[in-house]
Amino acid sequence: MTKTLFITGASSGIGAATARAAAANGWNVALFARSQDKIEALAAELGEGALALPGDVTRLDDLEKAVAATTEAFGGLDAAFANAGKGLDTPGTVEGDPEEWRRLVDINIMGVLYTARAALPALKTAKGHLVMTGSAAGRRHIPGSIYGATKWFVHGYAGNMADEMRDWGGRCTVIAPGMVDTAFFDEAKPDKLHPDDVADAVLHALNADPRNGVREIFLMPQS
Ligand SMILES: NC(=O)c1ccc[n+]([C@@H]2O[C@H](COP(=O)([O-])OP(=O)(O)OC[C@H]3O[C@@H](n4cnc5c(N)ncnc54)[C@H](OP(=O)(O)O)[C@@H]3O)[C@@H](O)[C@H]2O)c1
Repeated sequence: MTKTLFITGASSGIGAATARAAAANGWNVALFARSQDKIEALAAELGEGALALPGDVTRLDDLEKAVAATTEAFGGLDAAFANAGKGLDTPGTVEGDPEEWRRLVDINIMGVLYTARAALPALKTAKGHLVMTGSAAGRRHIPGSIYGATKWFVHGYAGNMADEMRDWGGRCTVIAPGMVDTAFFDEAKPDKLHPDDVADAVLHALNADPRNGVREIFLMPQS
C-alpha cells in the first residue's frame, strides 16, 4: 500500500525537496506551510498523491486539522517530517531581539513539539516514523548561538522520542545538515549542500529496513 508522509516547511528548501523525492519514491505527501500559493503549486506539480495544507506550526490546532485531513485523504499516516524552522536576523544574547527569540522558540521548538503531538496518534497506529530537521549546529557548540541551542533541543528530543517510539515499533530520526543552499540564507550558497542531499538522507531513514532505527544522519558540505 502507498505510504504517506506529512511534511512541515514544505513550501521551500529542504521540505520541498523532500516532498519531490518522496513522491518520486512512491509516497503520498501532505505539504504543510504558511505559503498557500507555494504548497498548492507544488501539490499541482506532484499530482494526485499530494495534498496542500496551509497552516502555521506555532498553532497546534492547524497541525491537528492538517493531520486529520491527511489521514482522511490517504487512509493513514506512516511518517511525519518536522522540518519547519527559521534562523535569527540578529544573533547574540546582548545584541539580539528578545521578541525574535520568542518567534524562534515558537517555530523551532514548539513547532516540532506540536507536530509530534498532532502526528503521534496516527503514527502509533501505523508503527510509523517521526523525522526532525536538526542541524550541525545542534551537535556542536557555536559561540553564543541561540539558533543552535534550539537545534540542541531538537536533537535531545529526537533521541528521547526514538527510545519512546521503539517500545511500540516506531522510529525517530534527526537529520543534521551543515550549510544547505536554501532561502534560509539571503545569499545563494552554491558550493554547500543542495536540498536534494538532505532529501536523500530523509528517504534513506524512511526506507531503511524496519529492524534498523536510523537515529541520526549528519551531513556536511565538502567545501
Ligand atoms: N539551510 C541550512 O543551512 C540548514 C542547515 C541545517 C538545518 N536547517 C533547518 O532546515 C529546516 C528547513 O530550512 P530550509 O533550509 O529548507 O529553509 P527555507 O527554505 O527557508 O524553509 C523553511 C520552511 O519552514 C517553513 N516555516 C517557517 N515558519 C513556519 C511556520 N510558522 N509555520 C509553518 N511553516 C513554517 C517555511 O514555510 P512558510 O514560510 O511558507 O511558512 C519554509 O517552508 C529548518 O528547520 C532549518 O533550521 C537548515
